[in-house]
Formats: sequence, C-alpha cells, structure tokens
Amino acid sequence: MCKKGSVKKEWNDAAESWVDFVRKGKDYYRDELNNPATFELIGDVRGRLILDLACGEGYNTRILARKGAEVTGVDFSEKLIELAKREEAKDKLGICYRVLDAADLKRFSSSHFDLVTCFMSLQDIEDYKRAISEVARVLTNRGRFVFSIPHPCFETIIVNGKRTSATRRYFGAAKYTVQWKMERLAKPFKTTSFHRTLTDYFDALHKSRLFVSRLVEPRPTRRGLRKHPQLREALLIPQSVIVESIKCAC
Ligand SMILES: C[S@@+](CC[C@H](N)C(=O)[O-])C[C@H]1O[C@@H](n2cnc3c(N)ncnc32)[C@H](O)[C@@H]1O
Repeated sequence: MCKKGSVKKEWNDAAESWVDFVRKGKDYYRDELNNPATFELIGDVRGRLILDLACGEGYNTRILARKGAEVTGVDFSEKLIELAKREEAKDKLGICYRVLDAADLKRFSSSHFDLVTCFMSLQDIEDYKRAISEVARVLTNRGRFVFSIPHPCFETIIVNGKRTSATRRYFGAAKYTVQWKMERLAKPFKTTSFHRTLTDYFDALHKSRLFVSRLVEPRPTRRGLRKHPQLREALLIPQSVIVESIKCAC
C-alpha cells in the first residue's frame, strides 16, 4: 500500500503541467491512438447517463458531453477537479464534477449509470478491486464499463532518456514510478502506477459480474503517423488495451 494520500499529492502537484500537456494537443498518444479507438468502441452516447471515473481535468469528459451524454466526472485530485470546473464555467456542457475516490462511490445510488468510462486511469487507482466493484454497483443492469490502461504485457517507462520495461516481471503485482520528463511538458512531474496482470483485472471484473465483451489493442491513426513518427512503435507493439465489459446481474 502507498502512504495514504501520496498518489493523490502527485496528481495535485502535476495538475498545471498535465492540463498544458492535454489541452495544447501535446498528448498525441491520446489524440491519435487511444481516443479514436476508445470512442469508436463506446459508440453513440446521446442521452446516456455516464460516469467518467478518474476524469482528471476533464478532456475526455467534455468529449462525451459534446457527443450528447449527461456526464458526471469524478477524480480524487482536488486540483484537477478545480481546473475541470473552471473549464465548465467558461464553456458550459452540463458536466457535474466531484472530488471522489474511485474506490468509494457511495455518493451515487446503485444501478444509476448506463456507462462508466475510465480513460487510462485504472492502472493509477490503488484499490482497483473496490473501484471495479463500485463501478458494477452504480451501473444499470446491462450497463457497460469501458476502460483503457497501458498494455500490462508491454508497460514501459523512460529511464535516463531510454525506454525500458516498467517492471521486471509480468506475473505479480508491482508499483512503479512514471517520470513524466518529455520536452513537450511545461514542467516535469512524477506519478505512481500499479502493474497488475490481465488476469487480475479480468478476475476483478468477473467477481463483480462484469463480463468482458470486447477488447481492442489500438493502432495509431494515419494522420497521427504522418504528424508523429514516434507513433510507429504502436504498429509493432500495443501501447494500451481497451476493455468493454457488460454488467449482467441476472
Ligand atoms: C493518467 S490520468 C488520466 C485522467 C483522465 N482520465 C484523462 O484521460 O485525461 C490518471 C487520473 O487518475 C486519477 N486517480 C488516480 N487514483 C485515483 C483514485 N483512487 N480515485 C480517483 N481518481 C484517481 C488521477 O488523479 C488522474 O487524474
């Protein structure tokens, strides 16, 4: 277990630099790799009640709202939620933001949301088992949970400018530090992630009666490949995995 509050402090400290990274189009792994595939998988959300879990400063939350969903975004970082709310005040999309730990969603009644999304965050949520069981509780029967994570078989971090494996072994849980140090960041920062196997995630889903219906290993868009040749590595090795599961309470 991490020292209580330390992961949250990292994200609070990272908030300003994270916002700059995400909102200024510098996060091309999001824009040209993960988002196109994830939103294609999610499909039509018009009129849907959606919870965006660990929403950060709300970039993808706003995309869901612009597509016509009624969205609530939650994150445990007070700073990121404050920045998300500021954006909502400037450009009103009807999003409701709350500071909440993903492992404790008692603020929401059971069987409430049609869809829960969790974009590239489950690997950062320490108590992922409780988070997944809370997701299952707040979903309607047949509701969907769609999440993306760095691919657990190929997680890498940058050490001294070189890409290297995040953990020494695949089997077994491990905690690792992600040093966000790229030149395109306004200021470097570090965060903590938790390696788990695909079996760990799928077991937690299964225990909560969330049945996996689809899995996508996204490929970069053509435009992304033209603009950012670094994305070519994602044609050889999947950087992330997107999972859709459906609650079946029957
Ligand atoms: C890599 S960021 C992704 C944010 C957002 N989903 C996006 O796509 O921009 C991971 C997020 O997980 C949040 N997070 C980590 N642990 C959490 C927890 N236990 N409860 C709620 N949010 C958490 C962090 O504050 C951070 O905003």
